[in-house]
Amino acid sequence: MKLISITKAILGVAFFTSLILSVNVSAAPPDAVAGKVKAQTCLACHGENGIGISPEIPNLAAQPALSITYQLIQFRGQQRKGGAMEALAMPLSDQDMRDIAAYYSVLPPPPAKSGNTDKIAKGQQIAGAQYCNSCHGAQLQGQKHIARLAGQSHEYIVAQLKNIRSGSRIDMDGTMGSAARGLSDDDIEALAAYAASLN
Ligand code: HEC
Ligand code: HEC
Repeated sequence: MKLISITKAILGVAFFTSLILSVNVSAAPPDAVAGKVKAQTCLACHGENGIGISPEIPNLAAQPALSITYQLIQFRGQQRKGGAMEALAMPLSDQDMRDIAAYYSVLPPPPAKSGNTDKIAKGQQIAGAQYCNSCHGAQLQGQKHIARLAGQSHEYIVAQLKNIRSGSRIDMDGTMGSAARGLSDDDIEALAAYAASLN
């Protein structure tokens, strides 16, 4: 068990390093205006305002640009699969990804959603105890390569936490896998309700 998690962590670090290396640092700066044009195929599902049109489609509005870029690189490389995203990311260049990420990252954040107050309070308590905020930000607003969870679709967060917990979604450096491993289904429901309730 221990050896497996150590091996996973090493593979994770190697993968993360290769992600960083695969982003060409000498490229043109990200261009949000060009990004909007390049995102035309994305709007049908992720919406012009970056709000997913159905609960299984994540909101991209106000997500950190680096997080969007790294997820697209993972889809293009087939390390992450789901929602046909691996095919949709295939034709995108690194520059396309950075431009699209720049466009979505500056859109206004998704609105907070109301929910069961007991569940939300339980989620907030678990998030504190499990240090989710130390990586995802005090208000789960995301930072750098770490996704925004605030205002994200409840169904999407539940699905992703279960995928990360089971290992069917591999995370880039192994840290999120460790964070998800100890969560019960009830914990996941509460965390998703808490995240959705934030703006
Ligand atoms: C047919 C609908 C559809 C289209 C079109 C689409 N997406 Fe997606 N996208 C999804 C779904 C569904 C997911 C969630 C995948 C999963 O379950 O892991 C997703 C996930 C993502 C994620 C991961 C977000 C996160 O929080 O981790 C990014 C980034 C993304 N899409 C960007 C794009 C971009 C850029 C385009 C256009 C090139 C695009 N998508 C087109 C449906 C779509
Ligand atoms: C040590 C830092 C760290 C901690 C602690 C952490 N996360 Fe994460 N989280 C990440 C990273 C990095 C990713 C992106 C993983 C990837 O796809 O490579 C992520 C991704 C996620 C995703 C997927 C988001 C999306 O848009 O697809 C969810 C949901 C999530 N984390 C929830 C949580 C919750 C809930 C907790 C607390 C129980 C938590 N995280 C604790 C770093 C962390």
